[in-house]
Amino acid sequence: MAAASTALLLLLVVAIHGRVWCFASDTISVNSSISGGRTVVSRGGNFELGFFSPAGNSNRSYYVGIWYKKAVSQCTPVWVANRAAPVSDPASSQLAVAADGNLVLINEAGKPVWSSDVSSASSSNTVVAAILDSGNLVLRREDGEVLWQSSEHPTDTWLPGVHLGLNKITGHAQALTSWKISGAPAPGMFTFGIDPNGTNQFFMNWNRTVNFWSSGEWNGDIFPGVPELTSHDKNDFEFVSNANSSYFTYSLQDPTVISRLVMDVSGQVRQKMWLPSAGQWTIIWTEPHKLCDVYAVCGAFGVCNEKSEPFCICPAGFRPSSEGDWELGDHSHGCRRNNPLQCDRSTNSSVHDMDDGDAFLLAPGISLPRNPSPAQASSAQDCRLACSRSCDCTAYSYGSRCALWYGDLLNLQRRVEDTAGMDDLYLRLSAMDVPSKGRRRTIVFVSVASVASILALSVIVCVLRIFRRRQRSIAFLQAASEGGNLVAYEYSDLRRATKNFSEKLGGGSFGSVYKGTLPHGGADVAVKKLEGLLCVGEKQFRNEVRTIGVIQHVNLVRLCGFSSRGGERLLVYEYMPNGSLDRALFGGAAAPALSWRARFQIALGAARGLLYLHEGCRDCIIHCDIKPENILLDEGLVPKVADFGMAKLVGREFSRVLTTVRGTIGYLAPEWISGLPITAKVDVYSYGMVLMEIISGRRNARCWEADEEGRMSEYFPLVAARKVTSEGEALVGLLDERLNGDADEQELDRACRVACWCVQDDEARRPTMEQVVQMLEGVVTVDVPPIPASLHALSQNTGFVSMHTTAYFDGLSRSL
Ligand SMILES: *[C@@H]1O[C@H](CO)[C@@H](O)[C@H](O)[C@H]1NC(C)=O
Ligand SMILES: *[C@@H]1O[C@H](CO)[C@@H](O)[C@H](O)[C@H]1NC(C)=O
Ligand SMILES: *[C@@H]1O[C@H](CO)[C@@H](O)[C@H](O)[C@H]1NC(C)=O
Ligand SMILES: *[C@@H]1O[C@H](CO)[C@@H](O)[C@H](O)[C@H]1NC(C)=O
Ligand SMILES: *[C@@H]1O[C@H](CO)[C@@H](O)[C@H](O)[C@H]1NC(C)=O
Ligand SMILES: *[C@@H]1O[C@H](CO)[C@@H](O)[C@H](O)[C@H]1NC(C)=O
Repeated sequence: MAAASTALLLLLVVAIHGRVWCFASDTISVNSSISGGRTVVSRGGNFELGFFSPAGNSNRSYYVGIWYKKAVSQCTPVWVANRAAPVSDPASSQLAVAADGNLVLINEAGKPVWSSDVSSASSSNTVVAAILDSGNLVLRREDGEVLWQSSEHPTDTWLPGVHLGLNKITGHAQALTSWKISGAPAPGMFTFGIDPNGTNQFFMNWNRTVNFWSSGEWNGDIFPGVPELTSHDKNDFEFVSNANSSYFTYSLQDPTVISRLVMDVSGQVRQKMWLPSAGQWTIIWTEPHKLCDVYAVCGAFGVCNEKSEPFCICPAGFRPSSEGDWELGDHSHGCRRNNPLQCDRSTNSSVHDMDDGDAFLLAPGISLPRNPSPAQASSAQDCRLACSRSCDCTAYSYGSRCALWYGDLLNLQRRVEDTAGMDDLYLRLSAMDVPSKGRRRTIVFVSVASVASILALSVIVCVLRIFRRRQRSIAFLQAASEGGNLVAYEYSDLRRATKNFSEKLGGGSFGSVYKGTLPHGGADVAVKKLEGLLCVGEKQFRNEVRTIGVIQHVNLVRLCGFSSRGGERLLVYEYMPNGSLDRALFGGAAAPALSWRARFQIALGAARGLLYLHEGCRDCIIHCDIKPENILLDEGLVPKVADFGMAKLVGREFSRVLTTVRGTIGYLAPEWISGLPITAKVDVYSYGMVLMEIISGRRNARCWEADEEGRMSEYFPLVAARKVTSEGEALVGLLDERLNGDADEQELDRACRVACWCVQDDEARRPTMEQVVQMLEGVVTVDVPPIPASLHALSQNTGFVSMHTTAYFDGLSRSL
């Protein structure tokens, strides 16, 4: 019996093994092509090659590509063979080694649509194509000679270990080229690659011609334009130049991390990392940092506004050139006029007089485009006439002098500051599109009957609207009056309340926050749009939101409601008119310096809020992301801790990864990095770092400034720790200079000692939040703390690295 079952088991193992061996081959040869659902998988199971249809592809077109097989659950192509020539039926298409030894893709009609195109391949019998664990597809002869490899023909992705560079013999420069839109791998407008002239730097190009970004030349350590790309270990990023080629390559310090660099459809280069626990990719850094700095990101006449969604809009009198693409997020076609210009190009004059032909419309809030053509004009009227005289002139501005622009305007941007009046831009439109001056005469022809019917229709619509609004306002009033209870809002109501998410308050962790106003004189609210948190199911999300909604304390920001429908998750918080602590502390001239009194109260209040989180509610909540950005101030400067409970909403491990990646590193306790278990003491550490910043009024991490001799000035927490630990030192030197020493000496002494205790490396030495509150209140005395060992180590040699790491994480938090 036992023997029989063993034999059966053995048979089963052999069968399974045989199957795996038979189907999961890693090679394509003249005798084994792939088509339909058949794929080949690299030996270690890292990558898979086969036919696929990209997510978001509406045409059911298929491509041959390579994607991650192991670990990455989303189909993420890293290379595509037939980018521009999809096949429609993979079952009757074939990827095979052809008679001349080339790897060829034959479509359903039997036509070759893609080939590896090696001129002197070989007899097909001696050639195989193999997919490797590095993601490289290699066409090689029996004797091992490599004829062709996919890594030398990258599409939009640069994988670790791959050389991206220049073949000095052929002059061919490899470049990443963005997809056209996210569902179509056809080559798009943006490319990223090494300088074809052979200098050791990267360029980003638009339309293969316009160079709009450069990394600066690699100096062996960093790219001057991308200081955050430096690393502790030089082997991470490498430039190699020899007689035949020059190239860059990069590797990851932690081989278990899955990461890739892509030339994104948006026009940004993005380094992404796979988060296994969340089942999705997260962006580690991007260039250019600002989406609006991408060349022609909104196309001709499109106006870019980083703070709105969508970030491209058309100015008044214009509409998207291609509505469908615009909706899909492809703004490259830009905007066109509602009605064509009347100007007659052959004579440079409007069909009729100017009033009936073209006119100019003020484009408010748009900053002046670059490279104007100057013109002679002594008044705004003259300037306008100068522009209207040429049909190619599309805009003018008359500030201190007359400036004209010709042709399509690219890179229009929303103005950052409101400098209305001086630099007003006037865009040329058909007079029909300019209000008031518009079609005065045609109006006469509009029949009375149609006016009457429009009137009747609008009355009906109005009545219906008022009716619906009343219903809706009831829901909102309930929200306001119920106080304690959470309200489940409709997504559309919140969209309206935030004017379509137009006023961004900040881009905190886990999503952006927008200001909103509940209708009918309702309260101001802050609406947080959670991003990329689909790992927690709808039901769990609602449960967790309810638990968080119950947590109420004078020093915690109150959650008033939420909305969860489909993928969109919104949280509604009370609005804090004085913004966040970082603005109050580091806002520069815009924010008057907080008095010591206010600072001490803020420190105490934030500590009490954290204490309540740790010990006051039923389940202990670790905040995990304490930093000045997450401490908000109400009208009376009462501090309120924001963004707590996120770990519940997004799953604990996810929050951990996120904090490691995007939380400002200066606030992270050593446990995060060393891998020790996370306890409430991580919040104590972060709080200590924030307390130092409250005292000094400067970012701990940003005070690396070179003095006259080029030396780095010292890291504030270290300076503070040294002063605190040496008896008899006057601590007033640590105080924000703007306060001119105006502080309660005893409070300052207590605060400095508490801060230093909080940032001890050993979590057991750190006080609890309860002790922190008691020490600050003066209820218990504070002993002299020791200097934390890691601060001491930091002072020895790694200062420069640390500055760059900080810049790196700052870049991260900006880009995310
Ligand atoms: C679908 O096909 C049309 C025309 O062939 C093309 O313009 C469009 O970009 C394609 N869309 C996608 C998502 O592939
Ligand atoms: C393909 O099959 C033929 C005959 O079955 C055999 O002679 C040849 O070696 C095979 N080629 C490869 C590359 O396996
Ligand atoms: C490369 O060098 C040539 C000649 O020196 C120069 O004209 C060209 O602008 C350079 N190209 C780039 C991209 O720097
Ligand atoms: C891109 O460049 C080509 C010539 O290199 C030009 O014909 C085409 O109009 C350009 N595209 C845009 C959108 O300007
Ligand atoms: C450059 O190419 C030649 C001929 O292909 C080869 O012999 C030589 O080893 C190559 N040099 C380097 C540094 O790879
Ligand atoms: C129209 O005006 C432009 C700019 O002033 C000029 O370059 C062009 O030659 C003129 N065309 C005709 C047909 O007059």
